Parts: sequence; structure tokens; C-alpha cells
Amino acid sequence: MDNDTLTSSEPPLKRHPTLQPLSREHMSGLIQARNLQRAAGGDAHQRRVAVEAFTRVWHKEIRSHFDDEERLLLPLTDCPELRSRLLAEHGALRELAEQCAREPEASASDETMLRRLGGLLHDHIRWEERVYFESIQRDHPEELARLLHEADRIERLRPGARPRHTLGSSTGSGQDKERADEH
Ligand SMILES: [Fe+2]
Ligand SMILES: [Fe+2]
Repeated sequence: MDNDTLTSSEPPLKRHPTLQPLSREHMSGLIQARNLQRAAGGDAHQRRVAVEAFTRVWHKEIRSHFDDEERLLLPLTDCPELRSRLLAEHGALRELAEQCAREPEASASDETMLRRLGGLLHDHIRWEERVYFESIQRDHPEELARLLHEADRIERLRPGARPRHTLGSSTGSGQDKERADEH
């Protein structure tokens, strides 16, 4: 059921308006996660293509998405377990993403690393949608409402965060759109 929720073109119906742009970006993050996991079991060319695509989306979108979550949402997060999980997973993903950017060839030849990166990204996004975003909007709706201008800023800066956005125009790749339609 979450597959449908997370790969539809809009965030979950009850998502707070301030969180909606970030929820929309989770869709393209999930596509990258699946691409990496599939490519890990594929040939060298598939792995290289997946690393290049992920690195592109990382620089264009995911990196700033993580920064925004930490800047906007961490100050609203009282629970130490939620805080530490968010920071630990962002840290691990940043490290792997930087490794892909720095050493694309070596990364593409490392099946285990690609599988780990794809798995971590997938599980992180699922956790945010199911647990973290839910807890923030349940416990801090008013604080979130005061951050609504930030949602506008994110939509202005990152096309993947906009409503009714098609993935093809976010990444410049029709392949990603096809991937999205597969699910
Ligand atoms: Fe995150
Ligand atoms: Fe996120």
C-alpha cells in the first residue's frame, strides 16, 4: 500500500502543507533507491548509469533536501531517538553519495556498496514518511504552519518539490518517468 502512496504524483493526503514539497521529493529519492538496488544485480554498464543518475539527483535535490530537513524539522524534534536516527542516516547517506561523486568508477564496480546505498535511502524515506513526518505534523502543526514560506522557497528552488510535477522534467530523463510509471 505504501508503494502506491509514495509513487503517486502527490504526497499523502493528510501531509501538512509545509511538508508536502519534501514528501514529493521522496518520490524521486525512492526511484533512485530502486535504480541503485536493481543495478547492483546488473552489469557494469547498468551500475555506471545508476551511479551517474544518482549523483546527478543527489547534487540537484537530495543533498539540499537533507539540509532542509535538518534546518527546519530538527528544531521541532524533541524525541532523542528520532533526532539521532535522522542524523545518523543522513550522515551515512552523505558519505556514500560523496563516495559516488568522488569515485564514480570504483563506486559503480562495488555491488555491495550500491545495494547498501539503495537500501539505506529506501528505508530512510519510508521511515520519514511513516514515522518521522507523521510525528512532526501530529506534535507541531502550528510551528509547521509558521514555516509555510519555506515550502514555497523549496518549490521555487527544486522542481521535484512542485505539485503536479512530472519526473521527466525534474531529471531531464524520460527513463525516470518510465520507472515511476512501472510501480
Ligand atoms: Fe531525510
Ligand atoms: Fe526526506
